[in-house]
Amino acid sequence: MTPPKELRVDLIVGARPNFVKIAPIVRALRARGTFAPRLIHTGQHYDFLMDRVFFDELRIPAPDVNLKIGSGPASEQVAKIMLALHPLFVEDRPRLLIVVGDVNSTVAAALTACYLRIPIAHVEAGLRSFDREMPEENNRVVVDQLSDLHFVTEQQGEANLIAERIAPERIKFVGNVMIDTLYDALPRAIPAAETLAGLNATPAFHAAAAQKGYGFVTLHRPSNVDDPAKLAALIEALSAVSERLPLVFAVHPRTRANIEKAGLAAKFATPNLAACEPLAYLASLGLMRDAKVVVTDSGGMQEETTALGVPCITVRDNTERPITIEEGTNTLIGADPARILPIVEDILGAGGKRGRKPALWDGKAAERIAAEVEAFLRARG
Ligand code: UD1
Repeated sequence: MTPPKELRVDLIVGARPNFVKIAPIVRALRARGTFAPRLIHTGQHYDFLMDRVFFDELRIPAPDVNLKIGSGPASEQVAKIMLALHPLFVEDRPRLLIVVGDVNSTVAAALTACYLRIPIAHVEAGLRSFDREMPEENNRVVVDQLSDLHFVTEQQGEANLIAERIAPERIKFVGNVMIDTLYDALPRAIPAAETLAGLNATPAFHAAAAQKGYGFVTLHRPSNVDDPAKLAALIEALSAVSERLPLVFAVHPRTRANIEKAGLAAKFATPNLAACEPLAYLASLGLMRDAKVVVTDSGGMQEETTALGVPCITVRDNTERPITIEEGTNTLIGADPARILPIVEDILGAGGKRGRKPALWDGKAAERIAAEVEAFLRARG
């Protein structure tokens, strides 16, 4: 007889990076055979390329519930998610809520659970940029204060949590679930050549990429793309870089909307800068793996490039993921996009920054999380 799956836990996802993080956790919980997990999607992201394709490619089971919240100002998103989640938690109360990362869906779910006194586990706890201008930083601080279990990806996270008076026994250094997904998916990554061939790019781009390789660009943070002058300067700098190294720019919907609003589409149309829609996970992974450099403001890609050993230029003043700089291949360049070109020159000449893989980024973080969650729930009886 199979034992009853008595450990009812809820998992929340809402936005693109959440899907990448939740995939191995769902798998690891199911593998233990003792959990009855319910996957709740808030609907913060909803376009096929921002949402559904990740479920297909990463073999995430379809969500049990989709709240279909959609886009909107942060307070509205958070409030709508809370209103929709509350009755779900009341009707079928989970023994634990698992949240990942730092998006609006994460904080909304944690607040709802907190009011109902449902214990919370935060995966990717303790990361701090110390920049309260970033919406995600505020989300991280709030979620960590509300959580009962803190799963940490790098050791600095432990120190940050202890500095915020989180009890050390609640903090578990388990490694990085985003890297679990990366290792799992790497054999299935779509070869870069295939993605490049499918781009709507100029013959000049294809000729240059065949000869020199390419760089891969993603930019979507409000601090980079919401101010038209800043966005224009970034596009000019990337256009200059593309003359040395052709660039593929996967354009997030926020960035695309801002390019159009600011009338920058013409500036963007440079022969060696190939723009495309947001890429699905397996295409993005294949492009990242073989890129000469990645230029980004994404948190996840700073980690993924470190795991892959590919040089990464991060267009931000700070990072909540310092290990990618101290041990990995990441370089922070702050707000000045003119700093991109000399680093690309160095990569083309000397190969660029080399790094090593951080501790416990070994593909087994989710298994450790599942074991810790089970121990936590058993101890509570
Ligand atoms: C959110 C996360 C950010 C994460 C990013 C990954 C917060 C505070 N931010 O930012 O941490 O790095 O997701 O993408 O939660 N849109 C679409 N289709 C979609 C989703 C969004 O067109 O499927 C457009 C909408 O115009 C929307 C805008 O993108 O207003 C921004 O979406 P939103 O979820 O608010 O934030 P992101 O910028 O995606």
